[in-house]
Amino acid sequence: MPTHVPCGVRIAGSGSAVPDKRLTNEDLSKMMDTSDEWIRQRTGISERRIVDPEKGEGQLSLATAAMKNALDNAGMVGSDLDLIINASVTSEMTCPSNACRISAALDAAPAGAFDVLAACSGFVYAINIADSLIRSGRFKSIGVIGCDAMSTAVDYDDRSVAILFGDAAGAVVLARDEDPGRGCIHQVMEADGRTWPSLYIPRKTEDIPANASPRDARLGTLRMDGREVYKFAVTQFKNVIKESLDATGLTVDDVAQFVCHQSNIRIIESAKEKLGLPDDKVYINIDKFGNSSAGSVGLCFDQLWQAGKIKEGDIVVLVAFGGGMTWSSSVWKV
Ligand code: UT7
Repeated sequence: MPTHVPCGVRIAGSGSAVPDKRLTNEDLSKMMDTSDEWIRQRTGISERRIVDPEKGEGQLSLATAAMKNALDNAGMVGSDLDLIINASVTSEMTCPSNACRISAALDAAPAGAFDVLAACSGFVYAINIADSLIRSGRFKSIGVIGCDAMSTAVDYDDRSVAILFGDAAGAVVLARDEDPGRGCIHQVMEADGRTWPSLYIPRKTEDIPANASPRDARLGTLRMDGREVYKFAVTQFKNVIKESLDATGLTVDDVAQFVCHQSNIRIIESAKEKLGLPDDKVYINIDKFGNSSAGSVGLCFDQLWQAGKIKEGDIVVLVAFGGGMTWSSSVWKV
């Protein structure tokens, strides 16, 4: 039996993808009773991107493009990967996983492939899983994707949901590194399943909670109690960042970037204020891309990476919460 040599994990490459089609607040105000002013004040969003199914776009095409960009950035090809993890709630089918179809598109066989369902926490869950698998010695390079085409699950008759979500994908290639101090130095993956009725996509009538309103009978579309999610998130988001700093003994000054799920600008601003996080360490792109669920943390990470704002040796904290309810953080020494 070969002995397992402790190892670390490096980020070999990063990529992202967003659809070309823009859906602005003005567009939405023509479709429903809402306004640009209300949306910007309550969410910080001006526009979001959405896939065009008529052009064959969807979760699969977006996730594949992001992974391809991450591989290019790493100077690698699909067959260099030994595992693909795709985090999403909007994969076209439940069988096969979109991870398998991404593998087919990128010629990655016989790499393992599976989807992770953790809603907006999906990318952070997936990167935590991938780091642990590489450290286990079983895998050497893993492609991690967070991607949601939320426009395929949004009920455009429900204004509280329709204004919030957009479509995007972010991806990284993680690779084994000789330095065990490199990679994820602390991770949180938690959930409180009792709160699931705050955010769910029912498939059949039996899935709908007994006390739900008749409007919630729209099968296949996202149902969300925005106020409940907001109340939960505004506390949990701050707590999970604080827990990550306390557990690692790091201070805000030690961290180069807090890469936060773009849920609602008010939730991010509240955490910034309570924890004293400076503007230049909390990247915001919700104004242009909305809340892209599992896509958002990876998209932010990639935009920071491509801009040279995340460099080797930096400490970076990834943080997200979402349906389930789930929450997750991942502290990295890049
Ligand atoms: O990514 C993880 C999952 N989701 C989230 O993080 C979402 C968390 N929640 C939120 O971001 C916010 O709750 C929303 C943006 C969804 C809603 O904002 P809010 O400030 O919590 O609004 P509200 O639901 O408390 O509604 C306030 C008022 C209501 O009218 P009344 O009852 O006060 O007369 C709503 O009917 O605003 C009304 N409203 C709207 N008005 C114009 C709700 N949606 C809209 C809209 N345009 N789109």
